[in-house]
Amino acid sequence: MQFVYEQDTTRRQLGFIDGPLSRFDGLSVLIGYGDKKALTQRKLIPLLRKVVQFAKQNGVKAFSIDFKDLRAIAPKTIDDAILAQLMAEAFVMADYEHTSYKTAPKDNFKHVDVVEIANASTAVKNAIQKGQTIAKAVNACRELANTPGSDMTPESLADAAVKAAEGTPAKVKILGRAEMAALGMGGVLGVAKGSIEEPQFIVVEYWGTDRTKKPLVLVGKGVTFDTGGLQVKPGDSMYEMHMDMSGGAAVIHATIAAAKLGLKKNVIALVPAVENASASHAFRPGDILKSMSGKTIEILHTDAEGRVILADAITYAKRYKPAAVIDVATLTGASLVAMGTVASAFMTNKESLIPALMDLAEQSGDLMWPLPLWEEYDPMVKGHFGDVPNISTMGNSRYGGVIAGGKFLEVFAKELECPWVHIDMAPRMTTTPEDNLAKGAAGNPVRFLIKAIENGVK
Ligand code: BES
Ligand code: MN
Ligand code: ZN
Repeated sequence: MQFVYEQDTTRRQLGFIDGPLSRFDGLSVLIGYGDKKALTQRKLIPLLRKVVQFAKQNGVKAFSIDFKDLRAIAPKTIDDAILAQLMAEAFVMADYEHTSYKTAPKDNFKHVDVVEIANASTAVKNAIQKGQTIAKAVNACRELANTPGSDMTPESLADAAVKAAEGTPAKVKILGRAEMAALGMGGVLGVAKGSIEEPQFIVVEYWGTDRTKKPLVLVGKGVTFDTGGLQVKPGDSMYEMHMDMSGGAAVIHATIAAAKLGLKKNVIALVPAVENASASHAFRPGDILKSMSGKTIEILHTDAEGRVILADAITYAKRYKPAAVIDVATLTGASLVAMGTVASAFMTNKESLIPALMDLAEQSGDLMWPLPLWEEYDPMVKGHFGDVPNISTMGNSRYGGVIAGGKFLEVFAKELECPWVHIDMAPRMTTTPEDNLAKGAAGNPVRFLIKAIENGVK
């Protein structure tokens, strides 16, 4: 999708647009919204997406919008630049569909190729450009997550990170099994044992400012397929588990987007990438893994694998002396039970950050809501024969499943000496019909992460 501007002479060079707005496929869309007062940012985003969905459904390849008309219906609380960015994000995200495995119809897949914006100021044009860059990162993340598990292996995720960073100031480094063994990453290697796929530890570094400024470290779960391991998932629950690397894809693309936007920030993405497979050589319930931190992890459930690999990544983050660490993971089904499909759950070791984090989430459109990590929950992470159990040992292991995931990671985050945020994004792994986005991966929380990079976690 391309944005062009009224009175922009370059559009004549595009070849396919030549003439007044009315010649755009002969379609004018009237966006109506009953009660202006009620049109909040939350409602504006799906409404804008609907415009593109509607255009696509009707085979409209180009349409035009007068920014003044959009301004008139949008909430007064957001300025022109924010409105323009939200519009571009919504349009580009709504144009995406996972079609790479489908035979193209004769007249090709339906997409909107050109959006012409009338009455766009320079500030609006710049904001559109920014929104496009962000939404392309979201869509790139969705494409990785949508790719089937047999094709999206740890190595292909690593290759995708290398490729995505090409031509940007971001640098990618990949650690293989031997390097991880030398670092003592017993968590990542333990989970990877059952798979024929080589585990990878993906590092994306973007130093956008003075290297003495502490970076924000983003950690993403990169389980390229989660069978549950020897405690195999029941049939139906395994279906979308090729998207269990969504957190990893999100941190990779948020970091590369920061580089593309030229943000004057230092950002690091760390992604432990493994497949959680089932085989005679897989890790077993009762196994005790030695994590990179030195702490032992008592495996009480092979399907609680995400936290085990994230533990090593959080420990690895220490070498960057981070300003803050945010981890993103499709960690628990329990978070879906708690939140439904509307918002992610988040937890932090610094409760005073909660209002600011919720505000960034609200601004970005990637909604999230906090849960406690109170010390009353500490019995969840008391191991029987190892230091930390990978499922709760406080009464029924199913109770408080989201918090148990957070409490486990908190043990490793204690060594960080900086604010740490854990986002359990399982509720937002896939789109819902209410999102007005194509079926499949939702690309959460890339927009939130970019806000966090811009504003810092403070
Ligand atoms: N990847 C799953 C969580 C998940 C479920 C994400 C559904 C998205 C949609 C995770 O590895 C997992 O299996 N968690 C277990 C934890 C349990 C064994 C403590 C779960 O949620 O059942
Ligand atoms: Mn699992
Ligand atoms: Zn998983």
